[in-house]
Amino acid sequence: MKTYFRVNFFALVFLFFGLIGCQETKRELSDSDIVNAKIDSLINEMTLVEKVNMIHGSSSFTSGGVERLGIPELVMSDGPHGVRHEHGRDWSKDEDVLDSGTYLPTGTALAATWNPDLGYEFGKVLGSEAKFRGKDIILGPGLNIIRTPLNGRNFEYMTEDPYLNSKMVVGYVKGVQDQGIAACAKHYIANNQEFERNQVNIEMSDRAFREIYLPGFKAAVQEGEVLSVMGAYNKFRGEYCNQNEFLLKDILKGELGFKGLVMSDWNALDNTLKAVKNGLDIEMGTDLGMLPNPEYGKFFMGDTVVTLVENGVVEESVIDEKVRRILRVMYKINKFSERTPGAYNTKTHQQTAYNVAKEAIVLLKNDGLLPINKNNAKKIAVIGANADWKHAGAGGSSQVKAYYEVTPLEGITNFLAKNVDVQFSQGYEITKDGGVNTSLITEAVSNAKKADISILIIGWVHGYSDDWNDNAFDAEGIDKHSMKLPFGQDELIKSVLVANPNTVVVLVGGAPIDMTEWVGSAKGIIQAWYGGMEGGNALAEVIFGDVNPSGKLPMTFPKKLEDSPAHTLGEYPGEDLVMNYNEGIFVGYRYFDTYEVEPEFAFGHGLSYTTFDYSDISIEKSEGNVKVSLSLTNSGDVAGGEVVQVYVKDTESSLERPEKELKGFKKVFLNSGETQTIEITLNNEAFRYYDDTKSEWVLEPGKFEILVGSSSRDIRLSGDVEM
Ligand code: BGC
Repeated sequence: MKTYFRVNFFALVFLFFGLIGCQETKRELSDSDIVNAKIDSLINEMTLVEKVNMIHGSSSFTSGGVERLGIPELVMSDGPHGVRHEHGRDWSKDEDVLDSGTYLPTGTALAATWNPDLGYEFGKVLGSEAKFRGKDIILGPGLNIIRTPLNGRNFEYMTEDPYLNSKMVVGYVKGVQDQGIAACAKHYIANNQEFERNQVNIEMSDRAFREIYLPGFKAAVQEGEVLSVMGAYNKFRGEYCNQNEFLLKDILKGELGFKGLVMSDWNALDNTLKAVKNGLDIEMGTDLGMLPNPEYGKFFMGDTVVTLVENGVVEESVIDEKVRRILRVMYKINKFSERTPGAYNTKTHQQTAYNVAKEAIVLLKNDGLLPINKNNAKKIAVIGANADWKHAGAGGSSQVKAYYEVTPLEGITNFLAKNVDVQFSQGYEITKDGGVNTSLITEAVSNAKKADISILIIGWVHGYSDDWNDNAFDAEGIDKHSMKLPFGQDELIKSVLVANPNTVVVLVGGAPIDMTEWVGSAKGIIQAWYGGMEGGNALAEVIFGDVNPSGKLPMTFPKKLEDSPAHTLGEYPGEDLVMNYNEGIFVGYRYFDTYEVEPEFAFGHGLSYTTFDYSDISIEKSEGNVKVSLSLTNSGDVAGGEVVQVYVKDTESSLERPEKELKGFKKVFLNSGETQTIEITLNNEAFRYYDDTKSEWVLEPGKFEILVGSSSRDIRLSGDVEM
């Protein structure tokens, strides 16, 4: 068995730096003059070749070190919802290692909790497992905005909303980094589709850039103090993101003051000079690194850089600056000192996976069917291939070798006492040809007819099989062709709903589906996302009422694809490899609400088994902030969680503004009959817009409406404020 611990150089490095004392002391010193002096002295010791060795990959998931000086390689791993299986130094899979780990719910599920504290717990698990496995950087969170329902990687990202994105990311990053491991905010920026991702050029207004696509990254940098950022594959305004002066130099390192390192996405460059000069610090992953003869020196940021410096085209100080950033990150993650131990596959980590799954589940519709009283259901039909399909090990780079994965079928059977008869029918087949298997539908219908209750578990998958590279719908490198469910699932759902009206429909997946054919006749619909290793248990507890659902949609579910702003106002998939984001800032509910398009389920929507009453709003201005207070009462019979959402509407403005924008929220748990005063403070930023005619943020004086609700379309209280 291989070992993950790298201890060989520690003693040497300790001597070299003469550093003594505990790890905490070093952390305090890491930005100090002493550390900077040590970094400078290391750089002075290095030859040019040694420096250049540090700015490109040295194996599939490491960048180079300088052994002579005790500088180790940096070790990276995907991310974003589990530490990936081992690759060894090349791309071939290491079979002989213990690398199955905690499989957390994916990004959209995390965002659906609307609970930033869970973001922190989530990050903590990743950091701890990454540390145990000898990693330095975990390649997550994924922060790209969910612009179209078709993007294959939506499941790895979080939301359509920049404010929710910003709030969830900070906890995640801090959770990882408090373990002494670097997080990596990716993919900077506008990798909002997989189709032609390596070539497509994204054009968007300054306003959309500032208001929609940048805030998540800004929060990661300025509030989370993220230590690394990964550039996106696509071009932005004509230049590849990883070589883009505006993105890397002007905005990230300039305006946002990012002090960490920028790495490229794997195999994403096409020009050495631009990459070197425009702010990239490490180039990762190309085919040149593949066996049998890996040639890392031939990377764009390899030997060519040495030649450019020697010929005076690039100043050596430019390379020094990259090495300085890399060394600074190494200090921050205690690379030169002994780390506290990480932990792996612990009960606590599994509990976090469960907690996130439980709070992520969204009850979309309930005509009195849910929760199901298990004492009244003696015969239950569980129908659908997704009921016993395992999702962890596919979908592209985010694949996780799960220590275990409780499927919905297992969760339901574990939960129910033995005297309940659970019958499973597959209902449809997950195959590459996407064909409809009518005999499976017939069998499912007869199962549903005989049952008191049937539970349909349907939706998307990452892969057609358990082959790691067999990407399907929610997957890297490929977008969906449609929002319609594949494999004849609509036919199955309609037939089962006729056979047994007491049917719960559970949707698995990371993105919306077109439900128009059956949404009206389904009495209960649950969005379960990809719930991680504990997803099946959490789902069963929600269905049978041991857990009261408290998740809220982090994205709008349109009725049909054509309703989505990227497909009506904007462009998708673009023409001649150019995508104009003509919808500008009207992404997600900003479009649906302003243009009065009825969604299937609105942003922020999520029902509960209890009811919440909102009352007594007060809006006060103090010291430039606006304090919104209200009373929230759990007026139903059971305990439950609610996400109080605060939206701001600008009533008069020189530039067009969305009907409303999320600017604050709070998740609260109340017992039956309990009342709590909720306070949410909005600062100036909540009222501003980016004026791209003036290139500045503007707070235009005038009246603003404050809308408080249980979703973007379920506003319970409102009031005005003059700014
Ligand atoms: C993905 C990144 C990932 C990297 C390394 C790329 O294909 O876009 O998100 O971190 O591979 O696996």
